[in-house]
Amino acid sequence: MDTLKPENLPGHLAVIMDGNGRWAKKRMLRRIVGHQKGVETVRVIVDECSRLGIRYLTLFAFSAENWLRPKTEVKALMALLKKYVRDSTARMMQNDIRFNVIGKRADLPADVNVELDAAIQKTAGNRGMLLTLALSYGGRQEIVSAAKKLAIEVQAGRLDPEAIDERLFTESLFTGGIPEPDLLIRTSGEMRISNFLLWQLAYAELYFTEVNWPDFDKNQLAIAFRNYQARERRFGMTSDQLRQGQE
Ligand code: IPE
Ligand code: IPE
Ligand code: MG
Repeated sequence: MDTLKPENLPGHLAVIMDGNGRWAKKRMLRRIVGHQKGVETVRVIVDECSRLGIRYLTLFAFSAENWLRPKTEVKALMALLKKYVRDSTARMMQNDIRFNVIGKRADLPADVNVELDAAIQKTAGNRGMLLTLALSYGGRQEIVSAAKKLAIEVQAGRLDPEAIDERLFTESLFTGGIPEPDLLIRTSGEMRISNFLLWQLAYAELYFTEVNWPDFDKNQLAIAFRNYQARERRFGMTSDQLRQGQE
């Protein structure tokens, strides 16, 4: 098997971690067991990405739409999230990982927010990989909130509407300051975006795998990266133009 070219790994990897429920169902287990196993995968993939020198890793952990799930599942997910963040802070410190959250934080239970803030503060000085969890996150909601932020600035007379361009809009999103994803991985065979990073994924390479998230591992990650490295990112140009640029 070809080895990975370290100079051509995605700078920013985004992941839609899907298939926990189906993983459990196949084994006649409760959905929550799938989520527990999914947390194990998160640990493995965070460690591996950090080891490989990935600069930004963004994980879709709970969508704005996931509040529609049964109350018991939502409650269990929030409890798991809290435990994951609490248990992982020491590891993040060891690996120089900076922790970050995007999404509508106000929707999350207060005790979860306490844990998130603690991890964000504790890791704020780290300079390695930026690990971002998307929680109560929706791409459309994020775009609307950026538009609202800019409208308020205009109304207050602090911003000229003519100054609103792609760069300023990008900086007004929850992900302001984070470069856009180079690669999006979605597990479990679903081929949709489910309202994740709508603006930011404009030019990301998309990779879909049938593997459910609890079964995703270092080897699966290497396969995804190898697939990414075989692609030509043209950004609207022709193949010849890209090759000339390299000469
Ligand atoms: C992903 O697994 C985890 C979350 C969305 C929180 P799912 O829970 O969506 O698993 P499936 O899609 O039902 O198999
Ligand atoms: C998307 O997965 C959200 C997360 C992975 C957190 P879902 O399983 O909720 O997506 P849909 O509803 O099947 O599109
Ligand atoms: Mg799902």
